[in-house]
Amino acid sequence: MCGIVGYIGDKRAYPILIKGLSRLEYRGYDSAGIALLQEDNAIKIYKRQGKVLDLTEFIGDASTEGTVGIGHTRWATHGLPNDVNAHPHSSGDGSITLVHNGIIENYDVLKKELIKRGHVFKSETDTEVLVHLIEDIKEKSGVALEEAVRIALNEVHGAYAIVVLSTDEPDKIIAAKKSSPLVIGIGEDEYYLASDATPIVEYTKNVVYLEDEQIAIIHRKNGMRIISLRNKEVSPYVQELEMQLEELEKGGYEHFMLKEIYEQPRAIHDSFRGRLNSKEGWVSLGGIKDYEEQIANANRIIIIACGTSWHAALVGEYYFEDLARIPVEVEYASEFRYRNPIIRKDDVVIAISQSGETADTLAALKMAREQGATLLGIVNVVGSTISRVTDAGSYTHAGPEIGVASTKAFTTQLTLLALMALAIGKRRRTITDKKFQVYLNELEALPGKIEKLLESDDYIKSVAAEYKDAQNALYLGRGSSFPIALEGALKLKEISYIHAEGYPAAEMKHGPIALIDENMPVFVIATQGHNYEKVVSNIQEVKARKGKLIAIVTKGDTAVRDIADHVIEIPTCDEFVVPILATIPFQLISYHIAVMRECNVDQPRNLAKSVTVE
Ligand code: M6R
Repeated sequence: MCGIVGYIGDKRAYPILIKGLSRLEYRGYDSAGIALLQEDNAIKIYKRQGKVLDLTEFIGDASTEGTVGIGHTRWATHGLPNDVNAHPHSSGDGSITLVHNGIIENYDVLKKELIKRGHVFKSETDTEVLVHLIEDIKEKSGVALEEAVRIALNEVHGAYAIVVLSTDEPDKIIAAKKSSPLVIGIGEDEYYLASDATPIVEYTKNVVYLEDEQIAIIHRKNGMRIISLRNKEVSPYVQELEMQLEELEKGGYEHFMLKEIYEQPRAIHDSFRGRLNSKEGWVSLGGIKDYEEQIANANRIIIIACGTSWHAALVGEYYFEDLARIPVEVEYASEFRYRNPIIRKDDVVIAISQSGETADTLAALKMAREQGATLLGIVNVVGSTISRVTDAGSYTHAGPEIGVASTKAFTTQLTLLALMALAIGKRRRTITDKKFQVYLNELEALPGKIEKLLESDDYIKSVAAEYKDAQNALYLGRGSSFPIALEGALKLKEISYIHAEGYPAAEMKHGPIALIDENMPVFVIATQGHNYEKVVSNIQEVKARKGKLIAIVTKGDTAVRDIADHVIEIPTCDEFVVPILATIPFQLISYHIAVMRECNVDQPRNLAKSVTVE
């Protein structure tokens, strides 16, 4: 979490930093701050609790000159989200200033040591320790800034992406990373630094993704050099960004989340474009082609993920076990990494992540790597860490997802899991040709069906209005719709702050049924398929307890319509794609309820888009 930016060149740094921070605000919005190296060689720092807008209002007409600067938007870990704990943080004499994304785990030990040596701290952050440590080293050994940073980072445990300024070396910016992302954009005699490429794309498409334990030394005149923590010279690998600027704008929608919900027909189409041909009857995922044999022969597939991506993994389990007949285990990355799991060399571990930067997922991958498993990634952000540390993988091609609540990333993850399971099932001959063909047709028809479904948005909004004041909600589903119930509940919780639970419909009678009364909205996926009649029985149980029932049904359903308070129809489809289609009404319900409750839809409280701390 936290977003960091930096600029060195001939332009005014201030507007670049502010715009960059606004783009990165999804990573954290507890406080924001900037530091500008001014012409008189003083570092001017402005920082404020709240959002980037609060910062700019606070700065007002104050001086914002300077062509070198750094900025930060915070998701608090150590210390309250207040003005003092906001970044940037400075050394005791104010000559060195830095911004940091990550956690310095041994900050307490270092801090005590530094206090003994006379350092005085202002904040409660782990970050301030790092800037004092750099100052301490610089003072003692008189080395250049980059060397002091390098020595300091060798003493630090934990995760960091940092950008550092010093009044003693005003033509330089030093950046470094370990386990937190950092991208450097290369312009004409200028450099842009950011936690991801979104603040950079409008200035240059040439970027370097800094690798772990690398330090970039960027000099206004001499250009950029990269060294390792062990002081070895590294050649920068310059890549071209594919991202388009328009993808980062709201494009007329009131919120990014709504735009991203409406982008799903296009996003899903992009996720299977060139990978599926229903006329010729094939599926081919270029990114995992060389590993198909290995996956097909895997002893077991372990899918690791967090949050919404974990819900996608649960659907993946249904897909792989049903179509490819390979045993699958789905694990929360945060649990998996700490429980000494049994991983064998012939296991295939698939990490699912929108951001490709989730700290727990990365740590779980690292552990699986050490135990010899094959690692695959299903990732949205191109060039992200997970896409680089895995052996192979496929991008979801959802495009940038800015709303903190994941929408199009989720449905494209499901699409990709379906494609992978089909490809492997075909190779293992565990799926009949007929079924294979039906499923290809179903996937290809999805964008059109989602367009159709989105036409019901006004009706869905009217349903949402009925439940906007609910205090609790239950979401039920069976089979591959159960993870969609979990996802529906998570969406409602995270953006509208209504407590919600997802449950397998049949489990309701083992406990949650006690919660049902006339005030409890119960959202149920009751689409046509082999569980239909069983779900209808569960629905009767809800109604018998006077629960308010909102059912997602297949177009034309009459049986559930007669029982439910509201039905939302999805287009007729095979149950194979129900998880994808049934997700969309739940996204819209949560969105509208959150808007009606005047919640901050795109930046819900306490959350951040990219969870780069454990
Ligand atoms: O970037 P990732 O997919 O790895 O992120 C995982 C979760 O943090 C994420 O899905 C989170 O649960 C979202 N806020 C859900 O909307």
